[in-house]
Amino acid sequence: MTLPARVELHVNVDHVATLRNARGTHYPDPVRHAQDCLNAGADGITIHLREDRRHIRDADVMKMRQTISARLNLEMAATDEMAAIALKTLPEIVTLVPERREERTTEGGLDVAAQLETLKPYVARLREAGIGVSLFIDPIPAQIDASVAVGASAIELHTGSFAHDLAELSPLQEASKYVVSHAPSLHLAAGHGLNLDNLPALIRGCPEIAELNIGHALVSDALRYGMQGAVRAYRECLDRAKA
Ligand code: PXP
Repeated sequence: MTLPARVELHVNVDHVATLRNARGTHYPDPVRHAQDCLNAGADGITIHLREDRRHIRDADVMKMRQTISARLNLEMAATDEMAAIALKTLPEIVTLVPERREERTTEGGLDVAAQLETLKPYVARLREAGIGVSLFIDPIPAQIDASVAVGASAIELHTGSFAHDLAELSPLQEASKYVVSHAPSLHLAAGHGLNLDNLPALIRGCPEIAELNIGHALVSDALRYGMQGAVRAYRECLDRAKA
């Protein structure tokens, strides 16, 4: 496998919806801001439809699908309710994440190894409908092997521990190398807690990563730079780290 020359930037716009929902208004509109992200050079849009609908709502998923032509990544728990929504809206890719109602954000990776038998048919159903399936996992070889075993097309490594403590880069480095040597069929993404300060170390340390999903920090930076300005700043940061 040759190392990706460019890291794709996929913007998670959940927190545009968080701001909208705080007041029950129609603005800011995540779909409009998703379009701004794409106009500024983002490669795709990511949204997480949580069971409690705390940010993205069902109508947002449908409107996003009908409006944007770039790759749509729907993050969701592996439930029957979410499978039905994915099969109806047909995002290009679904990312399966663990979900606990009381958590503030997705706190750990999916334990794929412990759910092999339930995830296999779940993943197969989505893939038969032409939807790519990524699994959000901790950087652990057994979870990477399990992701291959259930038929995923991609994995997204949880970068939360690294974002919290930059000394936690080595598990991500080892996992990225493991994907190249033992699971080359998997598209390799990463995300969670990434920002303009910690991105360079991640990209330099893990040149195998092909895609990043970034939400909270980028949307926060948009308050300062505008959404298009923030996307351009992240794009430049990634390109500089890769150069
Ligand atoms: N990737 C996945 C699978 C996630 O669940 C999240 C959070 O919704 C992100 C990326 C983005 O994380 P952050 O908002 O911290 O950038």
